[in-house]
Amino acid sequence: MKSLICTTPGQFDYQDLPEPSFSKGNTILKIKRIGICGTDLHAYEGTQPYFNYPRILGHELAAEIAETDAPGFSKGEQVTFIPYFNCGTCIACTSGRPNCCETLKVSGVHIDGGMAEYLSVPSYSLVHGNDHTLEELALVEPLAIGAHAVRRAQIRKGEFALVIGAGPIGLGIMEFARIAGAKVIAMDINDQRLAFCKEKNIVALTVNPSEGNPAETIKDITGGSMPTVVFDATGSLFAINKAFSYMAHSARYILVGLQKGDITFSHPEFHKREGTLMSSRNATREDFEHVLACMKSKLIDPGTYITHRVAFDKVKKTFDSWLDPKTGVIKAMVEI
Ligand SMILES: NC(=O)c1ccc[n+]([C@@H]2O[C@H](COP(=O)([O-])OP(=O)(O)OC[C@H]3O[C@@H](n4cnc5c(N)ncnc54)[C@H](O)[C@@H]3O)[C@@H](O)[C@H]2O)c1
Ligand SMILES: [Zn+2]
Ligand SMILES: [Zn+2]
Repeated sequence: MKSLICTTPGQFDYQDLPEPSFSKGNTILKIKRIGICGTDLHAYEGTQPYFNYPRILGHELAAEIAETDAPGFSKGEQVTFIPYFNCGTCIACTSGRPNCCETLKVSGVHIDGGMAEYLSVPSYSLVHGNDHTLEELALVEPLAIGAHAVRRAQIRKGEFALVIGAGPIGLGIMEFARIAGAKVIAMDINDQRLAFCKEKNIVALTVNPSEGNPAETIKDITGGSMPTVVFDATGSLFAINKAFSYMAHSARYILVGLQKGDITFSHPEFHKREGTLMSSRNATREDFEHVLACMKSKLIDPGTYITHRVAFDKVKKTFDSWLDPKTGVIKAMVEI
């Protein structure tokens, strides 16, 4: 089968590899669509922490079942899958939080993923998708990250939610915060991305923190009280530290973006707000199902996100261009 291997940072190679063979408890997927995400871009650039090469990337997949013994699933059915493979026995797994399993393995990150014609996955990871298009199915995973973060935040109708970072992850958070009834404010240093939020009717309120005094702007928008929910989806240490000052008294702050440094903030400022700080990692089946339900009821239009489409045999020569913000890429979709 044709496979695309990231052999070392900056280098892709097409190779002909043996097809995976069927084994009990696993399902062979015939891959149909592969969404490209920041993790893939960072792995290719060589900036993804704890990443080993060579690796077959790709974890945002739409597929057709080629072979399975999973109850309720059949050959030819369209599916997506939950690419986080968990141990099932650790404290997180036994507490209903497999998304933060102690020994989590993410397909296409820690183990080989779906940039190939076929992939064997644990059958427990399958998600039904016959009612959806292939493109919708390949978008479920990145949107589920936002759905999970919003579920962590326990949004109340009518409250202000500030989402910092308007990349694919931030956009997903904005959508689900809007669906949950929040008044969403988008913040980004990239005006092109803020314009995208407005054009696509994802949010009406936008703030570029490099213009004027962003805290004052947010104060005006929120009628003086500041947002009661703040999400970071930048992965920028500077943005993460700064955002503590955007929290209303009683606010929750959810870290979705990830960086490698130590976060620092004023304890008295955080204390007087009785702030809640939490991280949000991956997503669970419940979040995947919520995304699919929102797509089905047209609360989310998957067409919003796909800015680039490319055939599998053109990925190697196109990949570099997606690293350039000027191409305006939000989500590139590979067809195979
Ligand atoms: N929680 C999870 O499970 C999970 C899953 C996938 C990705 N992530 C993380 O989410 C983050 C966002 O991912 P993405 O793919 O959307 O990334 P992205 O790079 O496409 O988007 C980040 C956005 O943040 C903006 N930004 C950067 N610095 C800023 C600042 N100081 N103030 C305001 N905006 C700023 C950028 O202009 C950009 O638009 C990354 O850190 C990624 O690692 C987390
Ligand atoms: Zn992803
Ligand atoms: Zn576990």
